[in-house]
Amino acid sequence: MQRPTIHFAPEKNWMNDPNGTVYADGVYHLFYQYNPYGSDWGNICWAYATSSNLIDWERKGIRLAPDPAIGEKYCFSGCAVKQPDEFKVIYTSIGYEADAVQHHAKQIICDADAAFSEIRRNGHELCADAHGFPVSEWRDPFVFAFGGKTYMVLAGVSDRGHIFLYEAADGQLNDWRYKGVLFTPADENELPECPNVAVFGNKIVLFYSLARESSVRYASGTFDGETFLVRDEGYADRGLNCFYATNLTYGKGGDVVLFGWLRESLIGTSSPDGTYSGCLALPRILRLNGCRPEFHFVNGLLSLYKTEIPVRRENGMAICRSAAERTRITFGVAGDAAAEILKNAEECVRLEFCGDTLHILRHSLTANADERELTVPLGAGRHFVEIISDGTVTEMLVDNSPVSFRFYRRRPVEIAFCAEKGNFGDVCAAELGGAEIKG
Ligand code: FRU
Repeated sequence: MQRPTIHFAPEKNWMNDPNGTVYADGVYHLFYQYNPYGSDWGNICWAYATSSNLIDWERKGIRLAPDPAIGEKYCFSGCAVKQPDEFKVIYTSIGYEADAVQHHAKQIICDADAAFSEIRRNGHELCADAHGFPVSEWRDPFVFAFGGKTYMVLAGVSDRGHIFLYEAADGQLNDWRYKGVLFTPADENELPECPNVAVFGNKIVLFYSLARESSVRYASGTFDGETFLVRDEGYADRGLNCFYATNLTYGKGGDVVLFGWLRESLIGTSSPDGTYSGCLALPRILRLNGCRPEFHFVNGLLSLYKTEIPVRRENGMAICRSAAERTRITFGVAGDAAAEILKNAEECVRLEFCGDTLHILRHSLTANADERELTVPLGAGRHFVEIISDGTVTEMLVDNSPVSFRFYRRRPVEIAFCAEKGNFGDVCAAELGGAEIKG
C-alpha cells in the first residue's frame, strides 16, 4: 500500500487544510496546516511549499509558528492576498484557554515579502466583538475582491452555523467591518469551516466544509456586494470523509484553482503507518456552466504519462491488466453498467452505473478503512469518466463532478480496469510516473 506520490504531502508527519494559496509571477504559493512533531493533529503551524505547474512541488519548511509570547497555541487556517508590493496573510489564532477554539479565536493580520521569507504579525487583528453578538467556532478567514471592494468571509456559529461577510475599511486590509450573514448552511446542527469565494463577473461560488458530515459543498449565484442570491447548491466532491477544507486562488490565465485536503479515511487512527497523514488533492480548475461548477484536473498531470496500458477484449469486455500504482483511466459509459478498478484476487473498487446513480463500493482487506458506499447522481445520456489513482488515493471526475476516496489495498493491483457489464467505450488507460516533490 504505497503512499501517494503524485499528490503533494509532507515528507512525514500530519498535514490538513491548504492555506494561503496564491499565484504571483509564475509561482503558486501553498501553505498548509502541519504538525512538525507527529502524524496526528497537534502543534499546528503553517508549512510552506511552491510550484510552477501544480504537480511538482518544493517544500520550504515552516513559515508561521504559534507565538507563545502573545498567548498563542495554534495557527489555524487562513488566506494570503497579493498586494501591490507585498502579501497580506490573515489567519485564525488560537490561545491556551480550555475553550479557546470555541470562544476565544482571533483573526490576526500579517505582512509578508514577495518570497514569503517572513510572515510578520503587524499588530492588527479582528476580534469577535466585531459583531455585537456572540460568535463561537469563529475561523478560517478568506479574502476576495468584488466590484472594486475587498471582502472577507469567515465561518462561525451564532444562533447556528453561518458564513459571515466583512468588508475592508482600508486599502491596507488591516481594518475590517462586519456586514452581515452571507450564507447559512441548510443543516442547523452543522459546523461550517473553511469558506472560500470564487468570483465570475457578477456571480460567485461559495465553497464551505461541513465538519460533522466531513464534506465540501458549494452554493453559487449572483452577488451585488451585499446580497447573495443562490441559484444552485450541491457537493463540491461526492467523496465523504476524504476531500475537505478547500482554499482557492486565481492561477495562470486567470483560471480559478481549487485546492483541498485529502484526509485519511481510517477509523480510529489518523495515519496508515504512523509516519504521515494526509495529502493535497490534485488542484482542480473550476469553470461555471450557468451557475453549475465544473471541474478539470490541471493539465500538468499529462506530463506524468509514462506508458499506455493496452485494452484487451476478454469475453467481449474491456480489461486493462497492470500492476501500476499510479494510473489514469478514462472511458465513456451509457445506461446500466458495472466495472471494477484497482483489482486483485481479494480486493477491488466496484463502479455500478444504475439508473440515475453511480454507486462506488470498496472492498479491501484493511479492517479499519472507512469503506462506506459513495454515490454520484448522474444526468441523462452518456457519461465521461476520468479516474486518477495514486497509492491510497483515487480521484474521479464523472461528467466533470469530482468524487475522491481512499482505498487501502493490502495486495498489489493486478487489473487496473475491468468492464463487467454494459456499454463502455473509448477506454484508455495509462501508467503515470510520480511527481517531483523535493525538500
Ligand atoms: C478544518 C479545520 C479548520 C481549522 C483547522 C485547524 O479542517 O478544522 O476549521 O482552522 O482545521 O487545523
